Amino acid sequence: MTTGVDLGQPQAQSVRSDEDVVRVRQLVRAVAVSVKLSLVDQTKVVTAASELARNTLVYGGGGSVEVTVVDNGRRKGVQIVFADSGPGIADLDLAMTDGYTSGGGLGLGLSGSRRLVDEFQIETSAGTGTRITVTKWSR
Ligand SMILES: Nc1ncnc2c1ncn2[C@@H]1O[C@H](COP(=O)(O)OP(=O)(O)OP(=O)(O)O)[C@@H](O)[C@H]1O
Ligand SMILES: [Mg+2]
Repeated sequence: MTTGVDLGQPQAQSVRSDEDVVRVRQLVRAVAVSVKLSLVDQTKVVTAASELARNTLVYGGGGSVEVTVVDNGRRKGVQIVFADSGPGIADLDLAMTDGYTSGGGLGLGLSGSRRLVDEFQIETSAGTGTRITVTKWSR
């Protein structure tokens, strides 16, 4: 596994199994270290990535994750895109609500992840799938 600090070079990981979710965690941790996130912020972004990758696997039917080092001129950060071609999220407001689950989970994955990162964006539509982009900046 390569874990470079190459700006703008996405590192991709497919998400087809539990083992792949572990690989996503490891990749995100390595990139978070490379942009010098604090230990607390590393853990936050790894936790968010773990939840979102698990959703990609469970609800999206699998997909892909891309991790990129970003730089806004002042700070570096880690940006992660989770993409699947699953059913999409019909009611986004409902899905983002603490405690809502359609699958017997805790319903805290999406809402919790949003609180753990600095930027959180969802594009989803029925039939096309779901694409979630999160960013955590060094401070
Ligand atoms: N990638 C996705 N594709 C389709 N639906 C999704 C996707 N991600 C989340 N959802 C929907 O949003 C709901 C809420 O997701 P969230 O991660 O918050 O909770 P959960 O996965 O059900 O439980 P938890 O993550 O706490 O174990 C899911 O139950 C599911 O209906
Ligand atoms: Mg979840």
